[in-house]
Amino acid sequence: MTKIEEVLKFRFGDDVPDTPDALQQSDFPAKLAARRSHRHFKPDPVDADLVRALCALALCSASKSDLQQRDIVIIEDADQRAKLMEIIPGNTWMETAPAFLVFCANNRRQRQLSEWHDIPFANDHIDTFFNASVDAGIALATFMTAAESIGLGCCPVSAIRNEAEKVSALLEMPAHVFPVAALALGWPAQEGHISMRLPLAATVHTDRFSEAGISDQVRAYDRRRAEAQPFSRQRGANRFGEVEEYGWSDDKARQYAVPERADFGSFIRNKGFDLS
Ligand SMILES: Cc1cc2nc3c(=O)[nH]c(=O)nc-3n(C[C@H](O)[C@H](O)[C@H](O)COP(=O)(O)O)c2cc1C
Repeated sequence: MTKIEEVLKFRFGDDVPDTPDALQQSDFPAKLAARRSHRHFKPDPVDADLVRALCALALCSASKSDLQQRDIVIIEDADQRAKLMEIIPGNTWMETAPAFLVFCANNRRQRQLSEWHDIPFANDHIDTFFNASVDAGIALATFMTAAESIGLGCCPVSAIRNEAEKVSALLEMPAHVFPVAALALGWPAQEGHISMRLPLAATVHTDRFSEAGISDQVRAYDRRRAEAQPFSRQRGANRFGEVEEYGWSDDKARQYAVPERADFGSFIRNKGFDLS
């Protein structure tokens, strides 16, 4: 078995095809297969020029209709960083990350183009919000892929949206610009671990969407993951009790039994978006 096959089988179970030769011509696919988030970093700084160059690579990614509705805020100033960390306290690993960036959706520029050309902006509806968010997500993912390709480690941080209003005010984001996720970046201090994924049978569909066998697939994934990577604690044990076999699906169901960012919609409406 090749390295990439080994990693993909670990991640997805036996449900992965043998790796075609085409994917073995470069070491990039194997790196992608083995990627992981990093939350422990060496104290070594990440050069500011390198961060900017990675931003450039991130912004080479595709963008809906070439509208380029995403921006990146690099947090360089120590005071600004400290203020940002104060807004989302209790995340020591984030505080020690050598570099920190915030990926934003920016639909403001598009509206400015309309204004400057004195042409009506006729797309004040939810798709506009969605397009800008997707663009920002694509830039975030591309930044991570570029950074990871040279050995940097990163972890996205949607926790900044727990306090979207405060983050937006601190970073002086105007109407129609909002934070999608931050990114902690640095040289990994630990190897980290590859996190298992649902089987492709559950997540890759052919010709039409199908949920055939989904509950069995999730149960099998729960068992496979609990065996190799058991959760260290059962979430919300006070409320839900302890179960003998605690799996990924228990954890995610329990996670979403607690409201999260229920005020995000009103934050986005206050940013000027019509979400109808
Ligand atoms: C949009 C997005 C937001 C995330 N936000 C956080 C976060 O706030 N805190 C955190 O510790 N990890 C965060 N993560 C990292 C995920 O927890 C991680 O990707 C997931 O557990 C799978 O692990 P892996 O990236 O190592 O495969 C985020 C990931 C994404 C894609």
